[in-house]
Amino acid sequence: MTFEPIATERLSLRPLEPRDRARLVRLANNWKVSKNLSTMPFPYTEQAADEWLAKQPEIWAGGKTVALAITIADELIGGIGVGVRDSADWELGYWLGEPYWNRGYASEAASALRDYAFSGLKLERVVAGHFADNHASGRVLTKLGFRYTCEVKRFSMARGAEVTCLEMELPRARWLEIKNGARVAELVA
Ligand SMILES: CC(C)(COP(=O)(O)OP(=O)(O)OC[C@H]1O[C@@H](n2cnc3c(N)ncnc32)[C@H](O)[C@@H]1OP(=O)(O)O)[C@@H](O)C(=O)NCCC(=O)NCCS
Repeated sequence: MTFEPIATERLSLRPLEPRDRARLVRLANNWKVSKNLSTMPFPYTEQAADEWLAKQPEIWAGGKTVALAITIADELIGGIGVGVRDSADWELGYWLGEPYWNRGYASEAASALRDYAFSGLKLERVVAGHFADNHASGRVLTKLGFRYTCEVKRFSMARGAEVTCLEMELPRARWLEIKNGARVAELVA
């Protein structure tokens, strides 16, 4: 697997490595993180981390998911990815360890991966979704140019229940408009 890390102003997005294990367990084992995700278990055990890290070569070989660590100074602070889901759409997802919230890191990482999805992977559309009570993620996605499409029920592994999820999409044409300088006020309207 060769993947050139994506550098942003403050972050680097790079493939996960076995040495990320301790920080992965420490930051992911947090109800406030896992309750907002579909497939992250709670508690997040060392075994869960080992399984996730061991799966990375297979995930990359499959060519249908780009799974990355969000890092500062090469230390993991969260995770982000874009991958094919059941409907054949490519979906963007991310999480950050709680000590790193509210500093613009998710927006910075997700906007870089959004750009990679359209310019590197040449996708025509990227979808995303957030649980209805996760306003911070809704804000991140709206700032990236995503727009709401529909409401569905989605299983949250951590909550062990179906949760109302607000689905969003960003078509390539809108991404191009954004990259061509659409005003932020128009994006968040
Ligand atoms: C959602 C999450 C990724 C946001 O990360 P972050 O780095 O704090 O996000 P940013 O700082 O880039 O942006 C957060 C935005 O939401 C806003 N926000 C934060 N809490 C909010 C709340 N309770 N209600 C409304 N907006 C909120 C912030 O003000 C900011 O908007 P602004 O830039 O216009 O001020 C982080 O909280 C997280 O990992 N949560 C758990 C996992 C998760 O929810 N993943 C996404 C699943 S869809």
